[in-house]
Amino acid sequence: MIIRPRRLRRTSAIRDMVRETTLSVKDFIAPLFVKYGQGEKEPISTMPGQYHFSVDTIVKEAEELWALGIPSVILFGLPDKKDAEGSRSWAEDGIVQQAVSAIKGRLPEMAVITDVCLCEYTDHGHCGVIKDGKVDNDATLELLARQALTHAKAGADFVAPSDMMDGRVAAIRNALDAENYQDTGILSYAVKYASAFYGPFREAADSAPQFGDRSGYQMDPANAIEALKEAELDMEEGADIIMVKPAMPYLDIIRRVRELSLVPVAAYNVSGEYAMVKAAGMKGWIDEKKVMMEMLTSIKRAGADIILTYFAKEAAGILNQ
Ligand code: PBG
Repeated sequence: MIIRPRRLRRTSAIRDMVRETTLSVKDFIAPLFVKYGQGEKEPISTMPGQYHFSVDTIVKEAEELWALGIPSVILFGLPDKKDAEGSRSWAEDGIVQQAVSAIKGRLPEMAVITDVCLCEYTDHGHCGVIKDGKVDNDATLELLARQALTHAKAGADFVAPSDMMDGRVAAIRNALDAENYQDTGILSYAVKYASAFYGPFREAADSAPQFGDRSGYQMDPANAIEALKEAELDMEEGADIIMVKPAMPYLDIIRRVRELSLVPVAAYNVSGEYAMVKAAGMKGWIDEKKVMMEMLTSIKRAGADIILTYFAKEAAGILNQ
């Protein structure tokens, strides 16, 4: 007798019935870039279909995402000026702070998350302050906490530290609690690799390091056990959600972190993953929409509860059909 798994693939209805993984618009967090100005919606050359918004237009974009059923956005800011410490990152009138309060003002129910990091705000492009030519961990913690606190004050539901300094989740949690922001959550980039897949983002956010690279603080792509340690530390320090980043080249890590985590696991489908699909699609080498859906499904199947993706809007359009 032949065992026939194909019986479960015979018709579309049967396939629907036995499908193990279903994507939902509720899984998505849409990343958005905000800059100073008025009425701006400037295309990002390295990421076709993504834009630099000003505060007024980012609110419109958030409204469109919300109308599609997408519950959340994560914001990245392009400051008016940069300095050695990244001081514009904790300015009360900073660009992210303005965008958060504008979006929450219009869409109070939408979950607004802010990326907490210094690299977009420092003139050297590193994620922390530099001492003796190196990124100083402990001196950076206080600045990250300051930045997170201004995001919370502006109304952010979650702050998302992406710097990979040791001890930053605890430092941010303490700073938020001390000022009575105990309801502001932390989505930590717990497992963030030193990845070349961030290239298109660094163009978009103008955040490339001016010397060296990030391998002194972001993780070695060859390591998996270390990812479990990073995930565990961030949970102990009080992270409400932990993230693995990038997603597609690290599906094994998503699975392993999912198995160990007692909090929701997010995966960041990063700029390079997006740009590759877009570029091949534009060349006619792949069916872009099908590849997009397959990629997002595989990230969910690997174990991600939440997916940060530049495809959020496009994929929502398909899922809502
Ligand atoms: C900031 C930050 C980066 C990304 C998210 N937050 C860039 C980096 O670490 O260099 C990358 C996101 C993407 O590539 O889509 N530290």
